[in-house]
Amino acid sequence: MLDAASKAFFHALAGSRTLKRLASRYGFRPSGGFARRFIAGEDVDQALEATRALKAAGMLITLDHLGESVTSSAEADAATRTYLSLIDRIVAAGVERNVSLKLTQLGLSIDRATCLDNLRRVLGASAPHGFFVRVDMEDSAVTEVTLDIFETLWGLGYHHTGVALQSMLLRSEEDVRRVNRLGARVRLIKGAYNEPRTVAYHRKADVDAAFVRMMQALLTEGVYPAIATHAVKMIEATKQFAAERRIARDRFEFQMLFGIRRDLQAQLVADGYRMRVYVPFGREWFPYFMRRLGERPANVAFVLKGILRER
Ligand code: FDA
Repeated sequence: MLDAASKAFFHALAGSRTLKRLASRYGFRPSGGFARRFIAGEDVDQALEATRALKAAGMLITLDHLGESVTSSAEADAATRTYLSLIDRIVAAGVERNVSLKLTQLGLSIDRATCLDNLRRVLGASAPHGFFVRVDMEDSAVTEVTLDIFETLWGLGYHHTGVALQSMLLRSEEDVRRVNRLGARVRLIKGAYNEPRTVAYHRKADVDAAFVRMMQALLTEGVYPAIATHAVKMIEATKQFAAERRIARDRFEFQMLFGIRRDLQAQLVADGYRMRVYVPFGREWFPYFMRRLGERPANVAFVLKGILRER
């Protein structure tokens, strides 16, 4: 796992317009585009193609049309309409009906009501087609309002949705109990954002220990949890706990990100576990991409090689 300093460094770089321009120019070049490793493509056809390949390899998927932190109602409306058309495209393509989205993409930074309305539009359009809609979790400034919107829509009867919770946040064990009480599904993650010490664990051992406690609470008291990690130790702890408690392999799933630890993804499928790959796509890939670099600074060498090859 990254240390807090490298996370903070890449978080700061993610705000650089120059870097974004440079990355956009080279990221998807026909040969050696470095962004391809983590992002399925810039358009929906490429994402659907990646999805089909994953299905053929025995994996489940969730599609994420990248975008976040929009600052105007027009952008939030456009992002919502993009999701509505993605729903149609997924139905027409006959691939698995599962999407992930971020609330700041749907207008959370503008106001709660705009975002709630937009998420309701997505949930309303997706329900009749049997979709599952996962609400990603963003930085701690929006944890409470994300959960609040999620609970409000759950209360209105939208039950084909789940949320993500981050083991690095001090509050998250209580949030697991809160979401378990609703009977909603949780995706358990460590957390990819740069958080202050007042709200988050900063030692890897503490984040891992909280992850294991949350995993156990979800497996025993939650509803079909998703254990989303590439960390072998966390995966082994999950397998062992499930085996000890005789929790069947179809009562939970593992999740990993597109392009990361493909060997481990294939191994879990071969061992009979459910494995869902998070497939991000779209033109707004830069912040997502920078979080992946922040998780593993060794990825920077890989990016630089790609750029140098292209120049
Ligand atoms: P850890 O960081 O300890 O990594 C374990 C091993 O995995 C590394 O040693 C390395 O081998 C490999 N690895 C991890 N990251 C890598 C990378 N970027 N490149 C190459 N190898 C890498 N976060 C969040 O805040 N909100 C969210 O909604 C989500 N959603 C989400 C969905 C899914 C399906 C996954 C798998 C992850 C997320 N995340 C997320 C990201 C998550 O919070 C976390 O930052 C990453 O998963 C990295 O943590 P790991 O648990 O993999 O462990």
